Amino acid sequence: MSGEALFGDDLLHRPRRELAPGAMWVPGWLRLDQQRWIVDRFHEWVNGPVPIRSARVGGHEMSVKTVCLGWHWRPYEYTREAVDVNGNRVLDVPDWLVRLGRKAVLEATGDPQAGQAYTPDTALVNHYDDAARMGMHQDRDERSRAPVVSLSIGDTCRFRFGNTENRNKPYEDIDLVSGDLFVFGGPSRLAYHGVTKVHPQTAPAGCGLETGRINITLRETGLG
Ligand code: SIN
Ligand code: MN
Repeated sequence: MSGEALFGDDLLHRPRRELAPGAMWVPGWLRLDQQRWIVDRFHEWVNGPVPIRSARVGGHEMSVKTVCLGWHWRPYEYTREAVDVNGNRVLDVPDWLVRLGRKAVLEATGDPQAGQAYTPDTALVNHYDDAARMGMHQDRDERSRAPVVSLSIGDTCRFRFGNTENRNKPYEDIDLVSGDLFVFGGPSRLAYHGVTKVHPQTAPAGCGLETGRINITLRETGLG
């Protein structure tokens, strides 16, 4: 293990912070045992009916690999079956993950009603290797404007959170560490965001991942 992983920023106090109205970063939200348990589930999902794969955007393969729950996402569209992979129906979003999403919205907003009302019906589970990135984009393939809940496990990444107008400045770069929660909703729901870098060998011991990064985003599609 590297010195950075042993003595990383996770040992410092990283207070929660609202980057913009509706965009809340809660460092260290998931405990290590919870992270590890989720990584075990991740291994079940990638061995499920639809294998993890890189989605194609405009003829290019994304560097990130994705496995979906509830609804299968490919650029611009959600379908129940993974029509661009093997045609199989994706696994359901498990109850525990819906409950975790509700807790996350409550944590971020402090609003018990917003937490209770949140019923994510899809989870996009992304795996990043050392070289993977995600360009600046909006999450706008959902009809619902309910918040997006993002959970990070494994290597730290540089996450760029921008404005709702375009992919350029103003934006802010933050380090999403294993266990961090990020929720964007309300006026920030359509903010551009991306991952500019993964910091290799920064996953904390005991998080369940030796290398690489997993990000889970929970969303309400608004589809019937
Ligand atoms: C995403 O925008 O879907 C993923 C963001 C992340 O990996 O943190
Ligand atoms: Mn996104």
